[in-house]
Amino acid sequence: MSKEYDIIVVGGGPGGYVAAIKAAQLGASVALVEKEVVGGICLNHGCIPTKTFLKSAKTYETLQNAKAFGLTTTGEIGFDWTKIVGRKDRVVKQLTGGVSFLLKKNKVDVYNGYGEIKSRNEVVVNKETLKTKNVVIATGATAIIPPIPGAKEAYDAKQLVTSRELLNVKEVPKKLVIVGGGVIGVEFATIFNSFGSEVIIIERLPEVISMMDEEIQTTYHKALTGSGIKVLTSASVTKIDGTKVTYTLNDKEETINSDLILMAVGTKANSNGLESLNLKMDRGNIVTNEYLQTNVPGIYAIGDVNGKHMLAHVASYEGIIAVSHILNKKPQGINYDRIPSAIYGSPEIAAIGLTEKEAKERGLDYKVSKVPVAAVGKALADGEREGFVKLIVDKKYLEVLGAHIIAYNATELISEYSVAMTSEATAYEIANSIHPHPTLSELTLEAALGAIDKPIHV
Ligand code: NAI
Repeated sequence: MSKEYDIIVVGGGPGGYVAAIKAAQLGASVALVEKEVVGGICLNHGCIPTKTFLKSAKTYETLQNAKAFGLTTTGEIGFDWTKIVGRKDRVVKQLTGGVSFLLKKNKVDVYNGYGEIKSRNEVVVNKETLKTKNVVIATGATAIIPPIPGAKEAYDAKQLVTSRELLNVKEVPKKLVIVGGGVIGVEFATIFNSFGSEVIIIERLPEVISMMDEEIQTTYHKALTGSGIKVLTSASVTKIDGTKVTYTLNDKEETINSDLILMAVGTKANSNGLESLNLKMDRGNIVTNEYLQTNVPGIYAIGDVNGKHMLAHVASYEGIIAVSHILNKKPQGINYDRIPSAIYGSPEIAAIGLTEKEAKERGLDYKVSKVPVAAVGKALADGEREGFVKLIVDKKYLEVLGAHIIAYNATELISEYSVAMTSEATAYEIANSIHPHPTLSELTLEAALGAIDKPIHV
């Protein structure tokens, strides 16, 4: 007899595994179907592996700069790429092992295989039919290889890779051409530049990381070029021939050679094979509402596959809402206006809410407060001074509308603004909350003081 569940989650990334654990904690019988290792792209091939590389890169840079901290080193400071990759693999294994353990502890049945969703009530895995009352689709997304002539051939010949393969290259490429100056492009540019690659980013739009506040974009562009990365913007790649990339810039065609090409021009939802379910789709993404319901009752879609925000933390949050809704816990629907996002590099970037351009376009009466990183003592002690916090508040009540941070450890600071926005707090609540000294979080305090009147330390 086939097993029957309250919920079957298909896909074990940060969306799927969190949804499964939460559903089990809420008392449901749950199965999770995953064809690879639990943890998804984020743990196995994305967020976590890149953070280990960035830590190695940062440590390498600090060692090279040891003199500035009063330290002396003897001998050559170098790195062993194989060992850096080895450390990455160990961290990933520890984390995915931890997730497996948590699933087991919460009594989630994990099926290792491809989950074929037949209907809201039936999922087939390894020829076994599992019965269920509800299905949560959490199948993620895959990097795009765009229809640029020669791109597919170069990918098949391993002369062009996506970020997934780049994590496991045997050696650091001498010259790395990155197509796409989005979040993945700039992060890998930072990593490989630190380990000595000559890095060239080719971006189609007039600026890199175009989803960010304009001031952050231009400041970051300068930081990239300042660290030795070549950035070509408003440049379109017209042809790829092996490791050669041809692009047009200012109506002129140029060809550059490389040792390896990284394609980082976005992702597409893994929504193939779901046709028989008659789900409403929008350009390959499954259409969902604020509770992550699809148009088919009992079928939910969370994470990258719904194409809303391709971010691990959004997937996890959506997973909790979806299973809470299934189990009648009456969750609040998701508000996509307050999603924090992060870009990892040197410095880091973190943002939430409206950019200044968006505030302007909406005709809002807003005010901007900007505080440089160098205003904070802890930053100077840490040997850091690059970047700023830019807080956007509404002029009347000083309610937080958006916050944009470019600084080392920016990604650790943004949660304060996330809490502020969820609780509809104003600059007054932030300023009235005592911030410990000396910490980098004084930046958020100073920005709030600046929004009210004037910061103290600027
Ligand atoms: P992306 O959408 O962030 O950036 C792609 C960039 O490529 C854009 O700037 C676009 O204008 C450019 N582009 C597109 N076609 C091009 C062409 N033919 N030639 C030159 N440039 C071209 O996508 P990315 O970086 O691939 O990341 C994929 C997804 O993964 C994103 O949706 C992102 O949100 C998510 N992700 C998020 C991370 C984070 O939050 N830190 C880290 C890694 C991925």
